[in-house]
Amino acid sequence: MKNTVAVLNQKGGVGKTTVTLGLASAAWSSGVKTLVVDMDAQANATWALGVDPSLDNYGTGDALEARKPGAAAEMIVASGWSDDVWLLPAAADLTMRETDVSRKDASTRLARSLEGVVKGFDLVLIDCAPSLGLNTVNGLAAADRALLVAEPTVFGLRGISPVLDLIETVWEEHNKKLDLAGVVLNRVPAVSADAQDRIAELKKMVGARTVWKPPIPHRVLINQAHQERAPIHAFGSRATELASAFDGLLKKLLASLE
Ligand SMILES: Nc1ncnc2c1ncn2[C@@H]1O[C@H](COP(=O)(O)OP(=O)(O)OP(=O)(O)O)[C@@H](O)[C@H]1O
Ligand SMILES: [Mg+2]
Repeated sequence: MKNTVAVLNQKGGVGKTTVTLGLASAAWSSGVKTLVVDMDAQANATWALGVDPSLDNYGTGDALEARKPGAAAEMIVASGWSDDVWLLPAAADLTMRETDVSRKDASTRLARSLEGVVKGFDLVLIDCAPSLGLNTVNGLAAADRALLVAEPTVFGLRGISPVLDLIETVWEEHNKKLDLAGVVLNRVPAVSADAQDRIAELKKMVGARTVWKPPIPHRVLINQAHQERAPIHAFGSRATELASAFDGLLKKLLASLE
């Protein structure tokens, strides 16, 4: 059974968390039971899913520390959205786990903690931090698919090859199930010759089929949904366009896991 997806990019602020939450929102609206694993010490996904990040609660930092396979089962909590969306929360302690490189099995600790836990869900989304460090390696080692989020800009494209290289390395060293599912384009302007040129360049780099449609447009409703800690799909007719974009991405993602 394949159901686990690492959402990543080394570049910060490109929309990894927004895409994770948008997919979770699409899952929420269609009854797809989902677990979000927050692998970023900033804990934005945790917060937006209605759970206050706290060092007093169990979370991904503890999951990486745990020795027992399946330890995350006792650490996951229902999100503030509904009982269909669950969360392994993040907190500031996750930053310290980034330097545990010398420890045995340092790269596969998340996978071990999630052992047996993922099968309780239709979909598991791992929201990675803007880094290609050990925590992201753990995210990839625990995943069946990698989903890249990118913006069609010069700097956005420059960051892609190191991510592809890391996916290759993790495949080689830790996880033969891992495959690149696709690249989701975020904040694509409606009319921009430059963005279209960058998209063409990206297609040459990863193959046209790997660049997924639809792209996510820039919309203030995304910020509002984060602010209100609510799923995009809860905003009714105002969210029609975004909801349908994330529904489309969810469908592609689930198909890529079959
Ligand atoms: N399509 C969009 N339309 C409008 N605002 C967006 C869109 N995508 C992202 N944003 C906003 O841009 C900011 C960065 O997005 P987000 O946090 O999802 O990126 P990220 O890649 O997860 O960042 P980080 O690297 O810090 O984890 C947020 O304030 C978010 O609300
Ligand atoms: Mg993020």
